[in-house]
Amino acid sequence: MAIDYAERIPNNVELSTNRTLQRALEQWQPAFLSWWKEMGPTDFNALDVYLRTAISVDTKGWANYGYVRMPDYRWGIFLAEPEADRRIGFGDDFGNPVWQQVPGEYRSQLRRLIVTQGDTEPASVEQQRLLGHTAPSLYDLRNLFQVNVEEGRHLWAMVYLLHAYFGRDGREEAEELLARHSGDADNPRILGTFNEPITDWLSFFMFTFFTDRDGKFQLKSFAESSFDPLARTCRFMLTEEAHHMFVGDTGISRVTKRTLEVMKELGTDEPAAIRRAGALDLPTIQRYLNFWFSSSLDLFGSEASSNAAAYFAQGIKGRPDEKKYDDHIVRDATFELDVPDGNGGVRRESVAMRNAMNEVVRNSYTEDCMRGLNRWNKLIEAAGHAFRFSLPSTRFRRTIGNWAGVPTDPSGRPIAQDEYDAQVASWLPNGDDRAFVASLMRRVIEPGKMAAWIAPPEKGIKDRPVDYEYVRLA
Ligand SMILES: [Fe+2]
Ligand SMILES: [Fe+2]
Repeated sequence: MAIDYAERIPNNVELSTNRTLQRALEQWQPAFLSWWKEMGPTDFNALDVYLRTAISVDTKGWANYGYVRMPDYRWGIFLAEPEADRRIGFGDDFGNPVWQQVPGEYRSQLRRLIVTQGDTEPASVEQQRLLGHTAPSLYDLRNLFQVNVEEGRHLWAMVYLLHAYFGRDGREEAEELLARHSGDADNPRILGTFNEPITDWLSFFMFTFFTDRDGKFQLKSFAESSFDPLARTCRFMLTEEAHHMFVGDTGISRVTKRTLEVMKELGTDEPAAIRRAGALDLPTIQRYLNFWFSSSLDLFGSEASSNAAAYFAQGIKGRPDEKKYDDHIVRDATFELDVPDGNGGVRRESVAMRNAMNEVVRNSYTEDCMRGLNRWNKLIEAAGHAFRFSLPSTRFRRTIGNWAGVPTDPSGRPIAQDEYDAQVASWLPNGDDRAFVASLMRRVIEPGKMAAWIAPPEKGIKDRPVDYEYVRLA
């Protein structure tokens, strides 16, 4: 399915056959571009960046690589190929044909879900807009911009659905997506994590590992949706999303690798000594990990949720990889949840499985995160150190769900608030950590050179060498 690049808005949805929709989107396009120029990586818009651009939705050879100035990036509308005779894969209408239009009775739910997903895409571009000033290498700078332009394209993906299927309400929502801003006191982004500032590269790698991975699981849930245009949009977004998590995964690997090198050179694991040598000590990395993992867990919503049950029953939002389950209707199954008993202890509660769908997805997410940690831990093990990264309990530092506001230690054991307050500086990035990390953030612009706190990548982008000039600095 080729993409039509002759059009003002590249697309594979035959936009030119629907003049009204085309005009509406062409009116939104300049608003998007002014948003990019004001709220995106503003200071880097004049640079040539070696970027990939989607040219087809085939899994093989779907992208083209070349120098592009970011404001000239061809943002467009790309849906995965339709599946012939696709059927509803879960919920009460299992086995019926999927919907090509929005059913009237589910209109507001679907719009809300698409808006919430859409809101995260420009939010992350806003969060990351100044990072280019402190990139540890040209390779990393290019990866940041690649992630940024693709998040911009994901916004296009959601805006297309709003315009094409939700009429006037949809067009208004599309405007709102450019009006809310990350961290804005009056008009913030919808979800908490997307209002957290990302001012350093350790946080950026944590964000792309943990928060983009939440995105992966949300998109996988929507890829199962009975609303076929949403499913097809999200399937193609997942292709792009993989690179974002690669950036986080390899970023943290490279930081860890460099730390291990410094530990070896100095013959110590003493954090103060590692820091004096200009690298990040492992306990600091662990505290950043605790912060971003716990923050990202909230994005899945409450453990028991009547909304989640309704989305599943109605066929709107499924479980990632629905095919791997035996029971797609899930009418009678139950799920055991550990909840606070109100007296500083834990009590087990049985809820209908449909109500526990958020928790089911959160658990798959946690397992997926653990695979990354295992890779980093192998590096530490191979270097002969006893330290291991660990994921905190899903009860730790939650602000949504049963454990919201319940103080626990990272293992999930409920503790008194004053004990939490006394120890939190050893569990989450403290003022000293943030100041130290900030002190490392200096721009490295010589091709192939890396900042002292991060090891070079194993290879470059698309067969280019690591010392390729990924960004041409003016
Ligand atoms: Fe995205
Ligand atoms: Fe992403």
